[in-house]
Amino acid sequence: MGQEAGEKWTDAVVLQPTIPKSDRLLDPALLPLPQPLPRGGRGGRLADLLRSATERLSLTLPPREARLEAQILFAHGLGVNRAWLIGHDRDRLTPEQIAAVAALLKRRLAGEPVAYLLGEREFYGRPFRVTPDVLIPRPDTELLVELALERLPPNEALKVLDIGVGSGAVAVSLALERPRCRVTGVDLSAGALRVAEANAEALRAGVEFLISDGYEALGGRRFHLIASNPPYIAAADPHLKQGDLRFEPPLALASGGDGLDLIRRLVSEAPAHLEPGGWLLLEHGWDQAAAVRALLREAGFSAVFSATDLGGHERVTGGDFSL
Ligand SMILES: C[S@@+](CC[C@H](N)C(=O)[O-])C[C@H]1O[C@@H](n2cnc3c(N)ncnc32)[C@H](O)[C@@H]1O
Repeated sequence: MGQEAGEKWTDAVVLQPTIPKSDRLLDPALLPLPQPLPRGGRGGRLADLLRSATERLSLTLPPREARLEAQILFAHGLGVNRAWLIGHDRDRLTPEQIAAVAALLKRRLAGEPVAYLLGEREFYGRPFRVTPDVLIPRPDTELLVELALERLPPNEALKVLDIGVGSGAVAVSLALERPRCRVTGVDLSAGALRVAEANAEALRAGVEFLISDGYEALGGRRFHLIASNPPYIAAADPHLKQGDLRFEPPLALASGGDGLDLIRRLVSEAPAHLEPGGWLLLEHGWDQAAAVRALLREAGFSAVFSATDLGGHERVTGGDFSL
């Protein structure tokens, strides 16, 4: 699922029903602060408001990250890019502009992931729309895409399946990188499939989407490559109650007592859905590679391997089925 426990989200934060006064952004009641903030609100000068927001965000983030997040939220709230902010830092914002930015900042301070606030996250060089119906695509999952592409020669029209398609990050990337392949993406969540379909349309990727519990809706169909970033966190993992994970769909995150419930099914049922010599590639948690390798070998896979992510963790395990 593209990340260690540490992020998710569920319930919406109640937004400000009224337009705040120009100094509302600096209202200490929004967040208990250790010391008075610089007064920038009187005139709503952009530079002062940005500094104030950065200070609030620095209570939980390293200073450089806090400044970057403040700029990202201001740019989004004002409908401008970050370069504009630098060129206009002496501008005074209108109460409506301050209200828009304050609402975003308030939600961020309540823990909502930036990607949900912006409604977008980049994956494999392309922008993907994200909503609370889908996991926010993680950079680690680009490894799954790369390993799949290595096994999909550009000139061959192969059949590819992505199980647990979420935002469509993996399926859409594969379809765009290998336009000759026929890519199918399945998910148990109707909400996720709607987001994936919208992303495929916006990015002009030809992907077939189906609602399905694992392989169920696929009948006897077989594929040359199956890739999946399934939910793999243990159900009782305390990280599910922390950070961004609190805001992401539980269905995308947890899978049974040891996190491997869905992976076990995907492995044991894969032989019935793979063409001879077809590959199964699975993303998993940093400490699950040995267990996933064992499952693949037990199911009769050969050339079983694990690949490490940029952090040096074994992140994707796969094998081919030649029987
Ligand atoms: C970790 S997310 C991966 C999303 C996307 N592929 C990505 O990498 O960003 C796992 C996805 O699997 C879906 N899912 C969970 N259980 C499933 C099942 N039994 N059958 C199909 N999809 C399932 C979830 O709805 C979720 O969209």
